[in-house]
Formats: sequence, structure tokens, C-alpha cells
Amino acid sequence: MLFLLKINKIPIKLALNLCVLASGSGSNLKAIINAQKSGKITSKVVLVISNNSGSGALETARKNRIPNYHLSQKLFTNEAEFCKRFTALLKEYKIDLIILAGYMKMIHPQIIKLYKNRILNIHPALLPEFGGKGMYGINVHEAVIKSGREVTGATVHLVDEVYDNGAIILQKEVPVKKNDTAETLAVRVLRTEHKLYPEVIKLFEEKKILIRKNKIHIEKTK
Ligand code: GRF
Repeated sequence: MLFLLKINKIPIKLALNLCVLASGSGSNLKAIINAQKSGKITSKVVLVISNNSGSGALETARKNRIPNYHLSQKLFTNEAEFCKRFTALLKEYKIDLIILAGYMKMIHPQIIKLYKNRILNIHPALLPEFGGKGMYGINVHEAVIKSGREVTGATVHLVDEVYDNGAIILQKEVPVKKNDTAETLAVRVLRTEHKLYPEVIKLFEEKKILIRKNKIHIEKTK
């Protein structure tokens, strides 16, 4: 049975069809699939798209028999054609929520409009600090260590037209240890991300996230 509710007038089902966009190793994709398999979330990854034909994310999708596509703008004659194909796939697989997990490309404004408040990204720091252009991968953790901060973390936020700018949904802190290098810190932050993303997906499933005037309200569990 499908349960429907409305978030900002958009009907959302309790078991959501997820599309994961990823460019790299895809460990967050794996964590979401594991959360699905263990029953932590009821939503399903039904589509994986990558701009990188050699990405671990596409490999994971194939192993799990999830429909997957290598979609790069370079394969299309122009941006409009690329966007058309992207949108058609989202429609074909009845996607409710788009999950960016290490996706290194900007989302087309048309798709952002179409999926307003339904595109999430995960960032390996506590936004709004250590975000924006150039703040990706190991650069983020290097900047955190250089700053002398004692706490970093992971952030899940909504995606808008500007990098790392959309409303923050949930953050989890990770302590920075005295002997941490960017690499050791990256490992612990990534482990935290793997817990955080399924938690946020669950909040969407349980209709606990309300978005009003670009502000996030999370209903507390009774
Ligand atoms: C994660 O650190 C995420 O925060 C960032 O890109 C990385 C993706 O890692 N946006 P993976 O491909 O899921 O392992």
C-alpha cells in the first residue's frame, strides 16, 4: 500500500524510490543499500547514475542488480539533450528523492526546480564551514586540520543552485584527534556519513521533515 503525505504540497510516499548520483567509490551508496537490506530504511535505491564509467558506484549497482547508467554531458550534443535524458530516467523510475553521494557535477537548474526540496547532498564537514568551491575530498579534511578545530563532522543538506548552500537537514559531529592527519580524519568522517545518510532518508520516510520558507523543521520522535 502506498501512503501519501504532502511536504510543501509535494506528495511523498513512505517507501521512497531513491536515485543515487555518485562519481567515485560509492561507499555511501553501499551504506544506503545495506540500510535497505537490514530493514533500517524501507526506501529502495532503484536507480544509480554516474558521470564516471569506472566508478565504484556503478560496480556496486551492477552487483546489486540495480538499474544503472553512465550519464555524462560529454556523451550528448548539448546540455538540453543531456538534461532531457536525465529527467526521463528520473520519471521512468518514479524517483521520489535524489541522493548525491560524492557526485562531482552540478545538478541542472531544471532538475533542481523539478525536484525542489527533494535533492540531498552529503558533505564531509560541518557546513557552512569548510564548504563551497574547491572544498571536496581530502581538501576538506586538510583545511579542518589546518584550522585547528577540535570538532568536524558530516552534513546532509538540500541541494540548490549553489555548491554546499542548501538548507542543512542534519549534522553529526566527529572529534578531531591531536594526532589526526587528513587521511585518518577522512576515514572517521566517512564512517559517520554511512550512519547519517540512512538516518536522514528515514526521516523523510517517516514524514518528520517539514520544509517551510527554506527552513528545516524536524519533528521529534514521541
Ligand atoms: C563523501 O565524503 C561525501 O561526503 C562527499 O564525497 C564522498 C563520497 O564518498 N560528497 P563515497 O564515494 O560515497 O565513498
